[in-house]
Amino acid sequence: MTRAGAHPNLIKVFEILKDTKIVTYKRGKKVVQTVNAIIMEKGKVDLFLLINKCEKFTEKTCRYFFKKLLSAIDHCHNQGVAHCDLKLENIIFDRFGNVKLIDFGLAHSIQNKGFGSYRKLLGTYGYMAPEIHKSELYNIKKADLFSLAVILFIMVYGSPPFAQANAEDSHYFLMQTETPTYLEFMEDLGDVGRDFQDLILRMLDENPKRRLTNIDEIKQHPWYSGKTSTFKEAILEVNAALLKSPQ
Ligand SMILES: Nc1ncnc2c1ncn2[C@@H]1O[C@H](COP(=O)(O)OP(=O)(O)OP(=O)(O)O)[C@@H](O)[C@H]1O
Ligand SMILES: [Mg+2]
Repeated sequence: MTRAGAHPNLIKVFEILKDTKIVTYKRGKKVVQTVNAIIMEKGKVDLFLLINKCEKFTEKTCRYFFKKLLSAIDHCHNQGVAHCDLKLENIIFDRFGNVKLIDFGLAHSIQNKGFGSYRKLLGTYGYMAPEIHKSELYNIKKADLFSLAVILFIMVYGSPPFAQANAEDSHYFLMQTETPTYLEFMEDLGDVGRDFQDLILRMLDENPKRRLTNIDEIKQHPWYSGKTSTFKEAILEVNAALLKSPQ
């Protein structure tokens, strides 16, 4: 986590305590415990809880959050760190409304441009790239961007694109083999433009070689330059969501 360095969209770590003695008193008796702990900035709410409350954000606010998250991931990758567990629960909003990545518990150092041998099924099922289901050899940078596309899909539609990105999953199978039918499914979920559909299908392509994973190319995609909420507009949506009770 500290290797990833400072970025406005990464949780701030203040101190790492290793083998530190903590003294507490239980019924007047002194209790000394040795702990390892990370002292970090406290967020207000995670994205999972927020989506549970508001279901989805407007497309322009999704674009705003997507740009911030992409920038944080780009920064981590440039620092030689892949997150490896990007999901709604690992994204929080601080009290000012800034969106931040947390939980670097599965993070890995990037070697050989990301390609290497890693744990099979590294991450969380619904967000895992298809190659992680199949083998121990894959690219962790590409896997992070696959998870980001799943997060974007959920922010836009309020529900995930599939349960798991493997051939046994009917939604993912349809997405990869019967694209027009999957597009109809997306249209039923919400009225979002063709550019978004194109970006999502390319970022969730089952073939990592064909998949859109180059951050500069993602930024060149027409959807990326569409209308984007300002910080204030995004905060208004977050605050409105906070006031709602979970769906
Ligand atoms: N700095 C923080 N500020 C606010 N909430 C946080 C912060 N860190 C973690 N949380 C909340 O606690 C949850 C679990 O924390 P974290 O993701 O770091 O651990 P974890 O290893 O995923 O734990 P678990 O798998 O048991 O949930 C997060 O999903 C988030 O809701
Ligand atoms: Mg977590």
